Amino acid sequence: METLIAKVDGENPYNDKDVLDKAADIIKNGGLVAFPTETVYGLGGNALDPDSARRIYAAKGRPSDNPLIVHISDISELKPLVKDISPKAHMLMDAFWPGPLTLVFDKNDIVPDETTGGLDTVAVRFPENKTAIAFIKACGVPVAAPSANISGKPSPTRASHVAFDMDGRIDMIIDGGSCEFGLESTIVDTTGGDCCLLRPGSITKEMLEETVGSISVDKAVVSALREGEKPKAPGMKYTHYSPKADITIVRGALDKVKRYIAQKASEDSENGFKTGIIATVQTENGYKGHTVLVIGDRTHPETIAANLFKMLRKCDHLGLDKVYVEYFDEEEHGLGMAIMNRLKKAAGYNIVEL
Ligand code: TXA
Ligand code: MG
Repeated sequence: METLIAKVDGENPYNDKDVLDKAADIIKNGGLVAFPTETVYGLGGNALDPDSARRIYAAKGRPSDNPLIVHISDISELKPLVKDISPKAHMLMDAFWPGPLTLVFDKNDIVPDETTGGLDTVAVRFPENKTAIAFIKACGVPVAAPSANISGKPSPTRASHVAFDMDGRIDMIIDGGSCEFGLESTIVDTTGGDCCLLRPGSITKEMLEETVGSISVDKAVVSALREGEKPKAPGMKYTHYSPKADITIVRGALDKVKRYIAQKASEDSENGFKTGIIATVQTENGYKGHTVLVIGDRTHPETIAANLFKMLRKCDHLGLDKVYVEYFDEEEHGLGMAIMNRLKKAAGYNIVEL
């Protein structure tokens, strides 16, 4: 299959109406189109068509018990998809939609089991990225979309990342530039009336709690699950975001962390490993002579979030064998919870405590 790649002006997507129309035709005919959102690129198909859902799983190489998020372009499109919208769900929608928040509801029959991986619930998201909204509107159906990476690889935050993973596997990629937030959406389960955080993201736990009061957090968010334990978001059980390199996260006082990493990286290099260090603008100078990937600024964690997946992909492009990463947030609050959730998965929970 040849994959068409077409640029869209992210500020004025309707200037490229021909591209949107072409993409919508593909979706209406059961094909797959990758598109930008403010979080990461999605791999879209018709959410109401079981065959489209099957094609998405095949293109990603993803287990079909891992449900897809259904994307809408207007709040009015939610009602037909779900059984009930709780008062707290309404409050979250009012506060954060459109935006990087996905809500889980009990599903209506119109949503096929293939889309929800056999679950009775459906995850729905109303993104705010202008290209995403224009594309979904043009499709005229809700768009099921996981992140547009090969299963297990870091999520794509640029069209070039999607092309690297998906060229020849999908019909089209809409290139709308780089994604603003760079981490996948926050997921909150609203079934049963209360709220439970299933995946942390740029809408932080604190922001959610300001709106609906205290919420619970699924265990899979902060720690590795034990044999037999099940996360509420099925996707949280799979290895994720993993470059080929062995990743080690180092936690402790920053001075100690820097000394430890510099020493380990030197030892590894002497032993013939290609070694890299993921550091920040505050710490990069401590690693002279090493391959350093500067991920962002510790005082602006949103820069770290936005660059995280790009840096993990870069580890592969550089052919690194071993990568050391400084711990970013001791308390794991705010955006730190989402950043450390993705990093710990990328490292397979390999953390050195100093
Ligand atoms: O930001 C995002 O959410 C991106 C963009 C494209 O919207 N999408 C994304 O999709 O990250 P994906 O498939 O990579 O991750 C979806 C996560 C998985 O962990 C999945 O298990 C969970 O959402 N999920 C989907 N439906 C669910 C449901 N009904 N109940 C619980 N978790 C669900
Ligand atoms: Mg994903």
